[in-house]
Amino acid sequence: MLETFKKDVKQGLDSNPKTLSSKYFYNKIGDALFVEIMNLPEYYLTRSELDIFQNKTQDLINALQLNSNTPFELIELGAGDGLKTKKLLRSLDKQNYTFDYLPIDISSNALQLLKKDLSNTLPNVSVKTQQGDYFKILASLKKSSKPKVILFLGSNIGNMDDEKAAEFIYNLGANLKPGDKLLLGVDLIKAKEIVLPAYNDKQGITAKFNLNLLHRINEELGADFNLKNFKHQPEYNKEEGIAKSYIVSTEQQTVTINALETSYTFEADEKIHTEISRKYNDALIEKIIANTDFTLQTKILDSKAYFADYILTRN
Ligand code: AVJ
Repeated sequence: MLETFKKDVKQGLDSNPKTLSSKYFYNKIGDALFVEIMNLPEYYLTRSELDIFQNKTQDLINALQLNSNTPFELIELGAGDGLKTKKLLRSLDKQNYTFDYLPIDISSNALQLLKKDLSNTLPNVSVKTQQGDYFKILASLKKSSKPKVILFLGSNIGNMDDEKAAEFIYNLGANLKPGDKLLLGVDLIKAKEIVLPAYNDKQGITAKFNLNLLHRINEELGADFNLKNFKHQPEYNKEEGIAKSYIVSTEQQTVTINALETSYTFEADEKIHTEISRKYNDALIEKIIANTDFTLQTKILDSKAYFADYILTRN
């Protein structure tokens, strides 16, 4: 893990323009900051998708075309606290569907907390937590002949470029059978006035979240980034539909990274690219799934039409 981190940091900072990967946001500090982000007034994504799960639960269930006589598996990639999913689970439980809920996460701690919470709030729901890599676990679940529904919520796919997203969805399909479903939650392309503040909150939590990458390199790779000399900079243009985050060096400076036995010079105003948060529309989703084994079946929107849960069917 540390070796891959080292390699990725080196490769990113050797590149021109410099980059660092958003996948390294999520250490203990980063996880806590992301929870804070989800509660920010500007960060509408989580609330919009919760609106769907809370107020359009039956539309979701109908779109998934579930049969109450056939046991199925509801698999969630990166379950987190399960707040949204619980709305769906409660409704399925009330309607006497027979299913197992299989939340997959890298964090065994998050899974334990979720399992405990569900055993109190929804004691009748069968919960089988799965710790580890999404695709390793999906491969191991392939042997079960039950129909499957995969949930991939929160616009988590938006951190991938379209090519990666297509590959990811293709690989999900390779672990499913005809008729199985993928429920893909994505943020929609909309005005800059709404999107940009979600990545540039007034309290500066997103700035801390982004700059935590440098703090992490300091801690884990023995570097001397002075966080006061770097700032968070988000950008968005509606034509492209991608929110991008950068870390900008506010002055010319040199930073040493002991674990890499190297120093890097940053020019004044030089940008390090750290994250993309892709926003979507129907045409983009169609294009991304074009070479996968999925067909777009329907989408369900929140009341403001900020966010969509797309239902895809495995061919
Ligand atoms: C977890 C990838 C959906 O891109 O909106 C939040 C991460 N980054 N604020 C997003 C994030 C900055 C988030 N996702």
